[in-house]
Amino acid sequence: MSGVLAMDGLDPGRFRDIDLFAPELKVDPRARFAEWLRDGSFYAVISGTPSAVLTRYRDVAEAFADHERLSSEKPRLPGWEKLDYFNGELNIAFSDGAPHDRLRKSLAPPLLPTAIRALETQVAGVAEALLDDIVGDEFDAMAQLALPAARTAILGELLGLPEADFPIFINLTEAMFGLGDLPAGAAHPPSYTAAWAAALDYIGSIIAREQSAPSRGVVSQLVRAHHDGDLSRGEIVAQLITLYAGGTSPIATLIGSTLLMLARHPDQQQALRDNPALLDAALDEVLRFHSPGLFNFRFARHDFDLNGLPIKAAMPVYMIGHAANFDADIYDRPFEFDILRERKPLLAFGRGVHFCIGFHAARMVTRVVLRALFNRFESFAVKADAQIHYTGNPQERAPAAVPLVVRRSISVSH
Ligand code: HEM
Repeated sequence: MSGVLAMDGLDPGRFRDIDLFAPELKVDPRARFAEWLRDGSFYAVISGTPSAVLTRYRDVAEAFADHERLSSEKPRLPGWEKLDYFNGELNIAFSDGAPHDRLRKSLAPPLLPTAIRALETQVAGVAEALLDDIVGDEFDAMAQLALPAARTAILGELLGLPEADFPIFINLTEAMFGLGDLPAGAAHPPSYTAAWAAALDYIGSIIAREQSAPSRGVVSQLVRAHHDGDLSRGEIVAQLITLYAGGTSPIATLIGSTLLMLARHPDQQQALRDNPALLDAALDEVLRFHSPGLFNFRFARHDFDLNGLPIKAAMPVYMIGHAANFDADIYDRPFEFDILRERKPLLAFGRGVHFCIGFHAARMVTRVVLRALFNRFESFAVKADAQIHYTGNPQERAPAAVPLVVRRSISVSH
C-alpha cells in the first residue's frame, strides 16, 4: 500500500484489492461485478500503479465521453515499448484532439451505414460457403464459422484486400500482441520489425497499384487520404492493423457468444426463431450480458472529481464497461439473460469521439452470419460435457471454442 499512499490525497479506505486480469473474470464475472458495483467506483493498484476503477453505468458512460479531462494517449513512460504496437505511428484509438480527428475523418467514409449495407451480399456469400463446409452435426462455431467469417469480412470485403495478402496483416497482428512479453526497455524484436517492414512495403505497392487500378474499400480510401497529404504510409499501416485487430476478434466473439448464450437458453433461441425481428434486441442483450469487451482505459489530464471519486493527474482510469452492464440502477434483474428485456443505450461500443467506428460493420456481419446459421439449422445446443474456455487479451471476453451440436433444417432457402 506504500506506493498507493505515495499518491497524494487518495483515501486508502476507497481502495479494493482486485485482480482485473483474473482468468475467472472471463468465465463468469457476475459475482465479482456484484461486489464491485456495491459501493460504487473505487481505486485499485493495477499493474503496480494506483488507478481509478469505474464500475457504475453513469461513471463509465461519462468517462467514455469525456475527452476533455481524460486522454486516450498512452503515456510514453519507461517500458512503453511493450505498448508501442504501431511502431511509434499515430493511431486512431490511442490519440486525442486534432490528430485523432484527422485519422477518424480519413477512415470514416467506407464505414458509414450505406457503404456497409452494400457489402451485405458478399458477406452472406462468405457465411454460406463456410456453412457448406460443415459436415455432420457437430462443429466448433468459433474456428469453423465465427473467426473465418469475421476475418474475411474485414480483410476481404471491408478493407478490400485479396486473400493471398491476408497473411501480411495476420503476421503483423501476431507480432504486435507478442510485444506484451517484452522486458522493460527492450527494443522491438526482429519478428515485429520484419512484420512491420513487410506491411510498409506492401502499402507502397498498393499505392502504386491504386494509381493505375483504383479499387473500393478502406485501403483505397486511405490511399486517397495519403495523396491528399492527410496520412503517411506508416499511418496507413497503423490504421489498417487497428481495423483488422480491433474488428475481427470482437465480431467473432459476438457471433460465438450469441450462439453460446442462445444454446444455453433454448427457450430464447426458439423465441428468436419464431420472431426474427428480435435479432437486434438479442444482440444488444449478448453485448450486455456476455460482452466481447471487459474494460477500456484512459489517463487523467489533470486533477478532477468524477461523481465523488477524486481523480489525480496522470492517473490511469479503467472503465469496466462490462460491470456497468449489470448496474441495477439501469437494468431490472441485471444478472438474468433476457433478449426480451427493455432495450437501453449500450456501453459496449463506447461513447463520444472514440465511439466504435466499426459499429455498423460489426452489427451487419454478425446479423448476416447468424441469419445464415438460423436458416441452415433448426436448432443448436452446446455439445454435452463441453467446457467453455476463454482466450484473448485481458480486455477481451472471448470464448476459445464454442462446440455445437446442430439439427439440420429439412428445407434450406439461401
Ligand atoms: C462487436 C464488435 C465490436 C465491439 C464490442 C467494439 C467495441 C469498441 C469500443 C468499446 C470502442 C471505444 C474504445 C474507447 O473509447 O477507448 C471501440 C472503438 C473502435 N473500434 Fe470497435 N468494436 C467492435 C467492432 C469493431 C469493428 C468491426 C471495427 C473495424 C472495422 C472496429 C474498430 C474500432 C476502432 C478503429 C475504434 C477506435 C475509434 C476511435 O478512437 O475514434 N471495432 N470499439
